[in-house]
Amino acid sequence: MTRRSLPVVPSLSVNLYADDVLADSRDVFARIREAGPVVWLPRRQMYAIGRFADVRAALRNDAVYRSGAGVAANRLSNHLGRHTTLFSDDEAHTRRRKVLMRSLAAKALVDIEPQVDARADALIERLLATDWFEAATDFSAHLPIGVVAELVGGPEGGERLLRWAAATFDALGPMNRRGLRSARISFGLLLYTLRLGAAGVSPRSWAAAVFDARDRGQISTRQARGLVIDFVAPSLDTTILASTHLLWVLSRHADGWDEIVADPSLIPAAVVENVRIASPIRGFTRRLSHDHEIDGTPLPRGSRVVLLFGAANLDETRFPSPESYDIQRPNGAHVGWGNGPHACAGANLANLEMQALLRAMAPTSAVWPPATPLGCATTHSRASAGSPPASASNQPA
Ligand code: HEM
Repeated sequence: MTRRSLPVVPSLSVNLYADDVLADSRDVFARIREAGPVVWLPRRQMYAIGRFADVRAALRNDAVYRSGAGVAANRLSNHLGRHTTLFSDDEAHTRRRKVLMRSLAAKALVDIEPQVDARADALIERLLATDWFEAATDFSAHLPIGVVAELVGGPEGGERLLRWAAATFDALGPMNRRGLRSARISFGLLLYTLRLGAAGVSPRSWAAAVFDARDRGQISTRQARGLVIDFVAPSLDTTILASTHLLWVLSRHADGWDEIVADPSLIPAAVVENVRIASPIRGFTRRLSHDHEIDGTPLPRGSRVVLLFGAANLDETRFPSPESYDIQRPNGAHVGWGNGPHACAGANLANLEMQALLRAMAPTSAVWPPATPLGCATTHSRASAGSPPASASNQPA
């Protein structure tokens, strides 16, 4: 009997988590895509998948690509996150996600839409009256911080939640100096949720909804608190980074902005295309439950694999001219919000917030060219494919 000879996995000595790569991952992503359907990263002792079709197939195959052993690149965070929806599989995942979606599904958000629009209108009116503003803090952070803090309904304000959320993302990379520093801050979010109970949260808030589910016996108290982490950790800097990139990309693609002003029905597509290029979450990991092959390349059971949403979203075989911002792009569906069973539970809210900003801006025809470039990235999230603006000016460039 002859044994089938399997292709060897290419090994790439790139550091996915170096500061310069976090600020701009495009070259490393391209090298990973070019090297093969799957590559070995010796420095991190894990595999990486960067081609669109392979990342999407892996996201859909949760029987093999498991999240229950964590989606981080280090053991500590994989242990600490175990009560969340993102770090779960099968029946536990279905149960947790069902509780989350009671608050996050499109129909649950209908009532807050006018409120988000009003906040966006007031924000744009205020910014138009200023000479300059800081894009990330004054433009992008305003809605997520205000809206999420109020909807979660806990005793902590939005600024503190953002500090914890950003640190939680940084703690999902390797336990290097950045990871250790962030894990300490992110621990604050864990402690905060451990002290939360039904009595300390606003009635009819998202936190109240998870404690109601606990009272109905659908989840345990520990899981209810884990779901509060699901509401806070992924909802802030993701949307803030995407909104900053939105402003940046529109300031560079005046034609895209003109199209939106002329036809605001393009706003949803403009937001979706922006998340493709920005890919605020670069990628998360999975652990393989079985031996597995991609295009004949073997991957052993138990190995950790990082699924690079950001690399997949720039795959030229799926998105021609992947770096150009094209709001009329045919076949523009991407994996910036993930795909399959763990696809982003908060995409409706993120879309609502970003669309509200554009709806408020469109009648003013305002777009603010960036003044000062800023590399703004966290371990798993990043603001842009290039340099997003730290500040923007109402004066013409
Ligand atoms: C532009 C903004 C956002 C982006 C780009 C984004 C991206 C993602 C991605 C890529 C995943 C899949 C992760 C994986 O499969 O490993 C995910 C999952 C998730 N996101 Fe988001 N997200 C955003 C906003 C939000 C918001 C606003 C919330 C909550 C209010 C949220 C809550 C979640 C939750 C709970 C999951 C886990 C779902 C599950 O495991 O079933 N996200 N997100």
